[in-house]
Amino acid sequence: MLDIKNLVIRYGPFLAVDDVSLHVKPNEIVGLIGPNGAGKSSIVRAIGGLVRPSQGEVKFLDRTITDVPSHALIQLGLSIVPEGRGLFPQMSVEENLLMGAYSLALPERRRDLMDRCYQLFPILKDRRHQIAGTMSGGQQQMLAVSVGLMGDPKFCIFDEPSLGLAPIVIQQIGETLQAMRKLDLAVLLIEQNAKLASTVADRIYVLSAGRIEYHDTPAKLAANPEVLEKFLSA
Ligand SMILES: Nc1ncnc2c1ncn2[C@@H]1O[C@H](COP(=O)(O)OP(=O)(O)OP(=O)(O)O)[C@@H](O)[C@H]1O
Ligand SMILES: [Mg+2]
Repeated sequence: MLDIKNLVIRYGPFLAVDDVSLHVKPNEIVGLIGPNGAGKSSIVRAIGGLVRPSQGEVKFLDRTITDVPSHALIQLGLSIVPEGRGLFPQMSVEENLLMGAYSLALPERRRDLMDRCYQLFPILKDRRHQIAGTMSGGQQQMLAVSVGLMGDPKFCIFDEPSLGLAPIVIQQIGETLQAMRKLDLAVLLIEQNAKLASTVADRIYVLSAGRIEYHDTPAKLAANPEVLEKFLSA
C-alpha cells in the first residue's frame, strides 16, 4: 500500500534520512520507532510532499506521491496526523472534526464518520462543543487522531501521538489504536515510545541517525533488548 524505496533526505549538507526503504500492506499496523532527531518526521514530510527527497521514491497504491500536496492525499485515501496535532485550537471539537471531512465525496457520510470517532473516543462526544485549545493534551491528541479518521482514509500516519502525554493516556491511545483494527485501515505509527508501538504494531522498523537499523515483529524485538538499548536509550 505504502512503498518507500531508498529514500534520502538532505537539509543542505545535513543527511537526515539515509537510504530508507519500508512498506506497509493493507490493514497492517506498522511501527517506525527511533530517538529524537532520527529522521522520523522527515520521512512523514516526504510522504506528505512537504520536503523533496534527494533520492528514492514514495509510492502509495502504486502511484508516486512525492509531488502530491498534503491536502490532495486524503482524496487518495491517505491521512497524515502530524507531530504537534495540527488542530484548529480556536474551533470547537465538532468543527475540527468537520474540517477533517471537507474533502469527502459524499458529505452525508460525515455523520457516520463522526459517530465512529465518538465511539472510539466517547469523551469527544461529551465535549463536542468545547473549544479544542482548552482541552487536555490527551483529549487534543484523541481529537487529532479523530480528525485524521474523518477523511475516511484507507491509510493513516500518526506522528508521535504519545508525545507529552501521561502514561495512563498513552495506554488509552494504545487501546484505541488496537480498536482501529476493525476499521479496515492500515496505519504507520511513528513513535519514540517503543513500548506503545510494540503493543499495537504487527511489524516494527527501528530508525537511528537516518538509517533503518532493525526490522522485525514486536516479539522478536522484545527478545533483542540490546537493539532497543543501542538505538533508543536516551
Ligand atoms: N528544516 C530543517 N533544516 C535543517 N535540519 C532539519 C530540518 N528539519 C529537521 N532537521 C534535522 O533533521 C534531523 C531529523 O529530524 P526529524 O524531525 O525528522 O526527526 P524526528 O525523528 O522526527 O525527531 P523527534 O522525535 O524529535 O520528532 C534532525 O537532526 C533535525 O535537526
Ligand atoms: Mg518528529
